[in-house]
Amino acid sequence: MGVTVDTESRIEAGLGGARARTLSLLAPIDDADLARQVSPLMSPLIWDLAHVGHYEELWLLRNVTGAAPTNELFDDVYDAFKHPRRDRPSLPILGPDEARAFVGDVRRRVLDALATVDLDGDDPLVRDGFVYGMVVQHEHQHDETMLATIQLMEHFAHPDADDWRPSRVDRDAGGTAAGMVDVRGGVVAIGTDELAWVYDNERPRHGMDVTPFRIDRTPVTNRQYAAFVEDGGYDDERLWSGDGWAWRRETGAGAPEFWRREGDGSWSRRRYGRREDLPSDEPVQHVCWHEADAFACWRGARLPTETEWEAAAALDGTADGPRQMLGEVWEWTATDFHGYPGFVSFPYREYSEVFFGPEYKVLRGGSWATDAGVRRPTFRNWDYPIRRQIFAGFRCADDA
Ligand code: AVJ
Ligand code: FE
Repeated sequence: MGVTVDTESRIEAGLGGARARTLSLLAPIDDADLARQVSPLMSPLIWDLAHVGHYEELWLLRNVTGAAPTNELFDDVYDAFKHPRRDRPSLPILGPDEARAFVGDVRRRVLDALATVDLDGDDPLVRDGFVYGMVVQHEHQHDETMLATIQLMEHFAHPDADDWRPSRVDRDAGGTAAGMVDVRGGVVAIGTDELAWVYDNERPRHGMDVTPFRIDRTPVTNRQYAAFVEDGGYDDERLWSGDGWAWRRETGAGAPEFWRREGDGSWSRRRYGRREDLPSDEPVQHVCWHEADAFACWRGARLPTETEWEAAAALDGTADGPRQMLGEVWEWTATDFHGYPGFVSFPYREYSEVFFGPEYKVLRGGSWATDAGVRRPTFRNWDYPIRRQIFAGFRCADDA
């Protein structure tokens, strides 16, 4: 009984916290901006909101209590797999008022039903609140996606954006060669066997043999990255072989997204609708995997593998360990997204399994936009190596 009550209050707090965040992010944005598509890479914000409600209805009402769908058409319109983001504005999606009413109605019914659900039973979907944790994390992940969409809005200065940035890194610790820390080799434990509030791709926990290596104490900063840009880093074809070179030719990018070179030679960036001087000591963000890889190569280093990253994260905060591995910027790793040995998809293949393969690179650590409920050393994110709208940076590694 005690266990159920704790789980129940954790669920209520989790759902309530995610919803408060979602609504406060969207509150200052007018309905026209909520409904328009800011970038072909992103959904209209109002699609994200109703998709969050649809996912919640599917998992917490239809699959848990057997409730009927509000509208069967939503299974098509709000299924992320049926329509790519660029096509979503032309779908018959709910308008802002309807979407707000829909998510509110789903939430009231979810909370009403919660007391009747057996959280201590044998059903792995609800045991210890698994599926509730999944839905809470899903909403927070979409909040981060919406933050990326809002950042892409050229002329909208969100009133809450003052602290929407990673924290500065310790200058002395900076990612020069001297700023690297040694990590001993050996067998390290990767992943987790937790079931509740964790995703299938983090399981099972397993040992991985790691060769001794070095890793930057802190994420690569804007100052360090600007030195690479100014040294012609984007023009050196040898750094841009294969797909990376194709990406560079196609985009013509010569600096991270949102950066601009000013007349006096300094760099500015656009952040939530405002131009500001580039803060030298912040981790660089909005670089794609190819840019991260090219920087590492220019510095005579490489990106850490996913295993190395997790081995290093275990030392975060220790005296000689790395710093700021969680909750600053997503960090690109050298590794393609795959299931761990013994992976079992749960509760649906479309969360992670369908993305396994060489097209996606793994990112680790979580950004400043990642809620604490989604931020943990075993959490695995993934994206295409050409994507820059996410809050992604990196740190370098090297053989010992
Ligand atoms: C884990 C961030 C890659 O946004 O595509 C949201 C998270 N899954 N809805 C994504 C997700 C289903 C996912 N990422
Ligand atoms: Fe989703």
